[in-house]
Amino acid sequence: MQLKILSLPGDGIGPEVTAEAEKVLECVATRFGHHLELTRGHIGGAALKAEGTPLSAATKRAASAADAVLLGAVGMPEYDRNAPAERPEKGLLDLRKELAVYANLRPVKAYPSLVGASPLKADRIEGTDLLIVRELTGGLYFGTPRGIDGKHAFNTMAYTADEIERVARIAFELARSRRGKVTSVDKANVLETSQLWRQVVTEVARDYPGVELEHLLVDNAAMQLVLAPRRFDVLLTENMFGDILSDEAAVLAGSIGVLASASVGARREDGKLPGLYEPIHGSAPAIADKGVANPIGAVGSVALMLEWSFGLRDEARAIDAAVSRWLDDGPLTADLGGTASTSQAGDALCAWIRTAHRTPS
Ligand code: IPM
Ligand code: MG
Repeated sequence: MQLKILSLPGDGIGPEVTAEAEKVLECVATRFGHHLELTRGHIGGAALKAEGTPLSAATKRAASAADAVLLGAVGMPEYDRNAPAERPEKGLLDLRKELAVYANLRPVKAYPSLVGASPLKADRIEGTDLLIVRELTGGLYFGTPRGIDGKHAFNTMAYTADEIERVARIAFELARSRRGKVTSVDKANVLETSQLWRQVVTEVARDYPGVELEHLLVDNAAMQLVLAPRRFDVLLTENMFGDILSDEAAVLAGSIGVLASASVGARREDGKLPGLYEPIHGSAPAIADKGVANPIGAVGSVALMLEWSFGLRDEARAIDAAVSRWLDDGPLTADLGGTASTSQAGDALCAWIRTAHRTPS
């Protein structure tokens, strides 16, 4: 298969972890006989530096023309005083909008070998296996009017029924192939957008009789995530709540460095599913350029890419198996108490992938 991928390493540790993700992608392509057509571009602070804008028109075009986009991270403290349109983060938000990837999937698992790495008690988090489905192109992040006018600043939280329905359908579809439960998180006791959210999600649920639906208010959901994380299977929520809850959920996994994400939209006319794949962690400027960042979130994002955008299950499984083995045997990076460099971790993964097997069909 031809794999046409645009890589946007971005800022901070983004380039370091993306280099390992690309390395793994190359190993998978070699092992399984695919042709990798990889191009690179700038996003975020790196794009501000190179092109004067956080996401150039040319990069947008390249992203739309690719089958999938691999992204590192965006954001650097030196740009913190920039106007919103000239911040690195704006590049990522524009890219999500450009690709119309409205559903952000963030799987969170308590890997047995990492249970001790979490500050939470083992008996609380053992067995946790949840999937956050975060709406990604609406809500407060994009609503207008927005602005700042002297001592008055304002943002708008807005949702249409269609925006809610399409992301809810993805959550229910996914729940069907998991444990059959959707927890929809909102703030319906206060917000009109949440009242519509609850109503639409309840209607969508009627099409999925095998899936159980529960509604949870976001403040309670934040507490339940650390009190009783095993109660969650698919957690469906709007953009801002999803942003916050997914960082909280990362604590369950032991390190935010191991978490991956996929952002997908509607299938294109040619049958392809556009996708943006990125680790959940940020640019981590404090450890950038030291070669110590954990590349597993980026590598796991490649597995999600192979599965979602290309339908390559064996290839995705080969990566997942290598990741599990790495978590058990190392060599681990500093966030997990080890001393391995980012590239040593990538090399270990590649060595295992080179001997991975294809499932006989
Ligand atoms: C995330 C990040 C982004 C977001 C930032 C970098 C704009 O925190 O992907 O969770 O808020 O969506
Ligand atoms: Mg976030």
